[in-house]
Amino acid sequence: MSRTYPQVKKLRSIGELADRLGELGVDLPMVAERSPDGGPLADGFPVDLAGTPRLVGNRFAVLPMEGWDGTTDGLPTDLVGRRWQRFGSSGAKLIWGGEAVAVDPVGRANPNQLTIDTDRHGEALSNLRADLVSAHTEAVGPHNDLVIGLQLTHSGRFSRPDASGPAPIPGGPHPVLDRRLPPDRPSPVISDDQLDHLSDRFVAASVRAQVAGFDFVDIKACHGYLGHELLGSVDRSGRFGGSFENRTRFLRQTIEAVQGAAPGLGIGVRFSAYDMVPFLAGSDGVGEPEPLEGPYRHGFGGDDSGLGIDLREPKALLDLLGDLGVHLVCVTAGSPYYVPHIQRPAWFPPSDGYQPPEDPLVGVARMLAATAELKAHRPSTVIVGSGYSYLQDWLANVAEAVVADGGADSIGLGRMVLSYPDLPRDVLAGGSLDRRRICRTFSDCTTAPRNGLVSGCFPLDDFYKNHPQRVELAAAKRATRARLGR
Ligand SMILES: Cc1cc2nc3c(=O)[nH]c(=O)nc-3n(C[C@H](O)[C@H](O)[C@H](O)COP(=O)(O)O)c2cc1C
Ligand code: SF4
Repeated sequence: MSRTYPQVKKLRSIGELADRLGELGVDLPMVAERSPDGGPLADGFPVDLAGTPRLVGNRFAVLPMEGWDGTTDGLPTDLVGRRWQRFGSSGAKLIWGGEAVAVDPVGRANPNQLTIDTDRHGEALSNLRADLVSAHTEAVGPHNDLVIGLQLTHSGRFSRPDASGPAPIPGGPHPVLDRRLPPDRPSPVISDDQLDHLSDRFVAASVRAQVAGFDFVDIKACHGYLGHELLGSVDRSGRFGGSFENRTRFLRQTIEAVQGAAPGLGIGVRFSAYDMVPFLAGSDGVGEPEPLEGPYRHGFGGDDSGLGIDLREPKALLDLLGDLGVHLVCVTAGSPYYVPHIQRPAWFPPSDGYQPPEDPLVGVARMLAATAELKAHRPSTVIVGSGYSYLQDWLANVAEAVVADGGADSIGLGRMVLSYPDLPRDVLAGGSLDRRRICRTFSDCTTAPRNGLVSGCFPLDDFYKNHPQRVELAAAKRATRARLGR
């Protein structure tokens, strides 16, 4: 069904993109001609990290992206090192988090996720960071304006710490997602005491991150993982559920505890600014919202219909963070597990997913508009945007206009950095883009890990084109298509 939408790749001019947006009735800022020197994308901007002013050298950020390729005891491998070095040499001056690193091994999202639970892990992350900086220096030059954070996570409902399969630790009751819990494995909601202990884990991890040389930690609150689920836990009882005050308590107490234990360490928060009712493939393979009786109240930043946006609480969260001294936020949306079309708009969905129920351009426009609205609400907070990769050849035209209009301070790049890591350098040099390496949202970097394989850009990155797991990926995709009758 997605084939009814024109691929962005086929829109041969910025005018054709504008026409398509007109047909869709959505708006995206964009410049017709990119500035020869990157224009506003080349400008540095200040960020307040725990009271210390720092300069970020340009307007590109690398978003966190894990590769399901650490060791089973949570340490980096050469594949992780390669990815981080490519992040460093990209030319982006803000590295938002590197990748999700679990503060507790039971909260890993996959058996190969990195962890930061011992000093040995802290040292390994320090080496990763140092190698990223070296790659940056070699490719770009001085690194005094390069700001690097580490994303800290607990996967909550989406924990899968070992080969035995999902081991969910829900943040609260959920009317739809509870139907997806494994029937043969008890999955009690995490208790208030356990959340208090978990805050301590975030603190220990933050101290290690500071020792390892990171400029900031991201207390992750996005994509359906625990920190995000708590924000929408309206049916949870006790100190961490129900009211807005209770639902933000975990984030608040964790931030305050990190500030006490690691003075001078910057803190950022990546949060899903809106959410929708979980989707599943319908009989024609196209995504449909799961049936639900009554209003949907569990989507943080969503409205009661389960399909619309209500940014009142996300704005209140921005204010709360600002009042706590957190002036660095990365805006994303939804979850790759239950609403991937709003989280990472793609023309080709992961092979076990659903065909997009809307033109992916609508998803991009939704995320950019919500981000701009949040930035306008709290101009003093540095806001990093997400979800640009689907724009493909026109990413830089939109990025330049977004920054010029003040719709975000920094343009976060996810998948595009896997296929074409030096896109920021090419844009800032004013050159044309290398069309062979532009991410076409084939989603293999998501399909591979869903099948227990490492993640990487198998279609476009020569290294992964020649990786032995490419053959397994092709077989897994064929098997999934056959199983789903597609
Ligand atoms: C392979 C892969 C791994 C990802 N890992 C993370 C992660 O560790 N933490 C996170 O916050 N987001 C993660 N994301 C989401 C991206 O950071 C980003 O939000 C998303 O891809 C949308 O941005 P894009 O359109 O530029 O790709 C991942 C995405 C992909 C494709
Ligand atoms: S596999 Fe490559 S082309 Fe496909 S979505 Fe991922 S980065 Fe983009």
